[in-house]
Amino acid sequence: MSSHIVWHDSSVTKQARQEHKAHRSPVLWLTGLSGSGKSTISDALEKMLHAEGIHTYRLDGDNVRHGLNKGLGFSPEDRQENIRRISEVAALMHDAGVLTITAFISPYREDRQMARQIIGEEAFVEVFVDSSLEICEARDPKGLYAKARAGEIQGFTGIDDPYEAPESPEITINSGTGTPEEAAAALRTYLEQRGDLFKGGKP
Ligand code: ADX
Repeated sequence: MSSHIVWHDSSVTKQARQEHKAHRSPVLWLTGLSGSGKSTISDALEKMLHAEGIHTYRLDGDNVRHGLNKGLGFSPEDRQENIRRISEVAALMHDAGVLTITAFISPYREDRQMARQIIGEEAFVEVFVDSSLEICEARDPKGLYAKARAGEIQGFTGIDDPYEAPESPEITINSGTGTPEEAAAALRTYLEQRGDLFKGGKP
């Protein structure tokens, strides 16, 4: 990195932006197998929070891979670079005062630890969207498990590539049972208990 690059502080701080919005800007980091419900749950949660006036944004695996991370594949190195770039974007969203929800498999513990470091301990909320491989494979919403079993996709998470489940996530959602709306409500309650949704009150 060039030593001629100097960091500029902003006159408007993160705290000031959060007070403007009257809520904090945590980053809910959803991790889990493909087909576990990350995208559906994050969409239901965003809908719920948006309806009550919270400024939200969602970063989603398949969508980000169409733009910012177009060109990255699924080798361990590319998955790590995928997570690193998303973490930097999420850190900017956090600083901007936007409540951010991410939905990426993010299969490696080390990469999620990196995300926690980039985003910051206070803002990072690891959400384990937990549903068995059997259930995800039976759902197979994109038909990708069938392709992986047929050998048409190599290195598919859960089939011939690892998924390292979180050891101490902030919250676990058992997505094998219940509806996406119930999962979203559980996450909303968690945020409320953390004091992140201080609408009307003080931070
Ligand atoms: S991550 O491992 O780098 O975090 P990410 O969440 O961005 O993955 O993308 C996962 C999505 O890409 C899956 O839901 C699936 O639709 C698609 N996909 C394509 N190939 C693979 C693969 N080899 N392993 C996992 N997902 C894949």
